[in-house]
Amino acid sequence: KLGQKSDLRARRIITTSTFATKAQTVKKTVQAGVAAGKESFSALQEERREQAERSVLISCPPNINQKKFLDYISKHGHIENHFFYQSYGIYAVVEFSTKECISALKANCTIPNVQHEAAVPFKSRLLSLKWTGQGSQSNASNTLKFQKHLPIPINELTQHLCKQESIDQQLQCLTDLYQLTDENISLRFLVCSLLRDIAAAYFPECIIRPFGSTINSFGKLGCDLDMFLDLDGISGLNQRKGSGLSLEYQVKQGTSERTVTQSILSVIGECVDQFGPGCVGVQKILNARCPLVRFAHQPSGFQCDLTANNRVAMKSSELLFVYGKLDARVRHLVFAIRCWARVHSITSSIPGAWITNFSLTVLVLFFLQRRTQPLLPTLDQLRDLADPSDQCIIEGNDCTIVSDLSKIKLQKNSDTLEKLLQEFFEFYGNFAFSSTSINIRKGKEQNKPESTPLHIQNPFETGLNVSKNVNSTQLERFVALCRESAWFLEQKEVHKRSAGQSADVIPPWGLAALLLPSVAQSAGVKGRRKKKHQPASERIRSLLESIKSNSGGAGVKQNAV
Ligand code: CTP
Ligand code: MG
Repeated sequence: KLGQKSDLRARRIITTSTFATKAQTVKKTVQAGVAAGKESFSALQEERREQAERSVLISCPPNINQKKFLDYISKHGHIENHFFYQSYGIYAVVEFSTKECISALKANCTIPNVQHEAAVPFKSRLLSLKWTGQGSQSNASNTLKFQKHLPIPINELTQHLCKQESIDQQLQCLTDLYQLTDENISLRFLVCSLLRDIAAAYFPECIIRPFGSTINSFGKLGCDLDMFLDLDGISGLNQRKGSGLSLEYQVKQGTSERTVTQSILSVIGECVDQFGPGCVGVQKILNARCPLVRFAHQPSGFQCDLTANNRVAMKSSELLFVYGKLDARVRHLVFAIRCWARVHSITSSIPGAWITNFSLTVLVLFFLQRRTQPLLPTLDQLRDLADPSDQCIIEGNDCTIVSDLSKIKLQKNSDTLEKLLQEFFEFYGNFAFSSTSINIRKGKEQNKPESTPLHIQNPFETGLNVSKNVNSTQLERFVALCRESAWFLEQKEVHKRSAGQSADVIPPWGLAALLLPSVAQSAGVKGRRKKKHQPASERIRSLLESIKSNSGGAGVKQNAV
C-alpha cells in the first residue's frame, strides 16, 4: 500500500513540476504564443490568475462619477484596467499594475463600524467606496458604462436570430450574444483569487483555479463558477540530496485522499461561511462522488462550486478548449445545441436525471469526429501528437494531450453549420444508444460496458460514465426531440427568412423556429409546462403554417427561459 502511495505521489510530481516550469515562463510563452497566433492554455490561465491577484472589487455609491472614481483610486497606484457592472448596486473591478498598489490602497481602508452587530475584521480585496462629507451632495452626471454579465432573454435572442441572413449566421450570432465576455472571465478569476485569500489562512501556497465552462470556451453568460482548491504546490519537492539527512513536516493523516479532501473542504467551507464577505447560502456537499462546497457570491452574482483535488476536471476543460480552438464551427454548434436543449428542458439548472451541458458537448464532439471527413481528431490522436513535456498522468490516468495546436493537421471538411446542425439531429435521432457507448478517445462507437441508458465514456477517467445520472425517460426525450428537429429542418421553408417583412416582425425561421416550444410539443416531449392535448400531426401543420404565412403580425413569441 505504501508503495502505491509513493507511486501516486510520483505521478503527481510529474504534473506539478510541469506546471511549475510552465508558470515561470508564463509571460514569455503568452507573448510568443500570441505572436504565433496560438496561445497555450495553461499560459492563458496563468496570465488571468496573475491579473486577478493585482485586482480589487469595489462596491460604489449610486451617484459615482467615473472621473472622480478613477482620480481617487489611482492615487494609490497605476490602474491597468477597469470596468463597471451592476448587481444589486454598482461594482467596479480595478486591475492595478502591481500588487504593491493594493497594499497602498488597503492602508487607507478602514474596518466599518457596524451598528447593533459586530464585524469580522477580515481585510479582503472586496471593498466599499463611501462618500464622506460634501461629495455625497454632488449631482455628478453618471457617465458609467456597465458590462453585461447575464444573457439576454430568449425572446430578444430570437429577434436577433430572425434578423440574420442564413442559419450559419444565426449560429454565429447566438455564440456572439451568449459567450462569456473578457470582463466576465476576469471577474470569475477575481472571485477565485478572493476566495484564495480565505483558504490561504490555512494553506499559504494554495491556488484556487476555475475550471469547466469558465475556461473551456463553451461558457454562457450566467453559467456557474466551478473552482478547485489546488494544493499540489505545497508538496515540497525539492529535497537536497547528499547530506544523508532530510526534514519533513509532521502532518495529520486521513484514512484516504477522499477523507482528507472532505476535511479540508469542510474547514474552508466553514471559513467561507463565517468570514467570506459576500458569500451566502454556503452548503457543504461532502458525500458527493466529488465533494464540494456550494455557495452564492453576491457581489458578482456567481453560483459557485468549490471542489478540491480535481486536476482531471481541469484537464478535461483544457481538452474542450483545444477542440473549441481547432475549428470555429465547433463552438457555434455547441452553443446552438446547448441553447436548443435548454429551451426544451432537456437540460436543467437543477441537478437530476437530465443530460448535462458537459455530456451534450461530448455528444457534439463525437458527432464531429464521426463525419465522413472528420472535423475533429480523436483524443488518442491528440495524445500521440504530444511532446514529452506535455506528459500528464493524474492519479493513474493518462491525461496527456498536445499543447502545440499547430501540430494538429485537420482534414478538409467544408460542411456548413446548417448541414451540421441538421445532421447532428439525424445522427442522434437514430443512434443505437441501447447497445453503444460514445467514446471520443477512439472516435468510434464502442460496446456498452454497463446497462445505463446513456453511456458516454469520461475522456480521461475511462472507467467512468459522464452521463451516469441520465434515466431512460430523459434519453427518450432527447431522441424524440432530435428526430422532430431533424424532420423540422428537412422542411425547406424553415430555412429561409421570409422576404418583405419589416425588420421588427420577422416570423421565426431557422434556428429561431427550432427554439419554439411547439417543436418539443410536436415531438410529444413533455417539459415542465403543460402539454397541449392536440394530435401531433395537427400541431406540426399549424407550426408550419405559421412559418409559411407571410402575415408578419405573429412576430416572435416565446417562453422566457
Ligand atoms: N465534469 C466531469 N464529469 C461529469 C461532470 C462534470 O468530468 N460527469 C467536469 C467537466 O470538466 C466539466 C466540469 O466538471 O466541464 C464542470 O461541470 P459542470 O459545471 O456540470 O459543466 P460545465 O462544463 O461547467 O457546464 P455548465 O455551463 O453547465 O456549468
Ligand atoms: Mg459549470
